[in-house]
Parts: sequence; structure tokens; C-alpha cells
Amino acid sequence: MHIATRRLIPAYAKARYGREALPNLIDAKVGVGSNETATAELRGLLGDDFADLARRMRPKPVSLLTYLIETVCGPDDWVLDFFAGSGVTGQAVLEGNARAGIRRRFILVQSPQPTGRADCPTIAEIARRRLAAVVARLGVDASEAGAYGLVKLEGAAEAPNRRTKSTSRR
Ligand SMILES: C[S@@+](CC[C@H](N)C(=O)[O-])C[C@H]1O[C@@H](n2cnc3c(N)ncnc32)[C@H](O)[C@@H]1O
Repeated sequence: MHIATRRLIPAYAKARYGREALPNLIDAKVGVGSNETATAELRGLLGDDFADLARRMRPKPVSLLTYLIETVCGPDDWVLDFFAGSGVTGQAVLEGNARAGIRRRFILVQSPQPTGRADCPTIAEIARRRLAAVVARLGVDASEAGAYGLVKLEGAAEAPNRRTKSTSRR
């Protein structure tokens, strides 16, 4: 079908779009889950005791990260998530590797933002627990170099609480 454009360049609309044409809106039609799915996933890995924290963290669903990673990454790529939160990106990479028999690697960075829980004091600890649960579920040998390692940066500052209102104005 021809569509007149202001620049008089013939254009056409495809009846079906290929994988290279990403949708404007990533929603259930793309096959990814919701925030509710994501909360249930995190709760399922960490246990019911973490239900409230899992809800408050507003994690992303694994299917969303899987979709994004599969769309842009090759089988040997590294995936960097500089605001890792509960570590869902790491889960998507680990599960994708297990499914496809490939070896993408990932780096997750997360500040020690407090959770308010003495038994699991930081968001970074949530991510660590999520990855440990995923590795255990997949049966990946965590002692192998291919699993994952943890590095704590000396002097890493706690991220400011996002709910804290700034008193300074310009
Ligand atoms: C919304 S979470 C990421 C959620 C993650 N995709 C998931 O599904 O769990 C983003 C995290 O990035 C961190 N973050 C956001 N802005 C930051 C900043 N300016 N400096 C350091 N950390 C930040 C916060 O600690 C927060 O936990």
C-alpha cells in the first residue's frame, strides 16, 4: 500500500513486521509479563516472607529483560545493568544461557540501598539472593567460573532514599 508523504517519498506499511521492527509499546501483546508477574517471580524465589518487600521494590518481569536481551544481544555478549535492583537482568541472562546453551555474561551494579530489614539489609543483598536461588534452581555449578562472582566496592555509599524530599531549590 502506498502512502503519500510530505516529502513525496513513496512509503508502504507491511502487513507483518519482522523482528527488526520493535513495537512502540512493550506490553502483553509482545509476550512480556507485568509488575505483578515480576513481584510473584521474586517472591517465588525468595519466599513468602519477602512478599511485602518484593511488592515495594517494583521489580521488572524476567520476560521483559529476556525480550530486550534477545532483541539486541549476540550469544557472546556482555550485559551491563548499572541499576540492578533485585537482579532480574542476571536472572534473565542465566536462564537464557541455560535455555540456549550459550554463555552471555553480565555485570550488575547495585548500591547498598537499605531495605529496612535486619535479616536482609540491602537491595544488593536481595539481588545476591535472587541469583543464588536461580543458580540453585538451574543446577548451575556455582563453583565454576561460568556462574557468577560478587564484588563489594570499598566505601560504596548508600543511595539516597528516593522518597526523601530535597529541601534545596534553585
Ligand atoms: C528500580 S531498581 C531496578 C529494578 C530492576 N530492574 C529489577 O527489576 O529489580 C533501580 C535501582 O537503581 C538504584 N539507583 C537508581 N538511581 C540511582 C542513582 N542515581 N545512583 C545509584 N543507584 C541508583 C536504586 O538503588 C534502585 O534500587
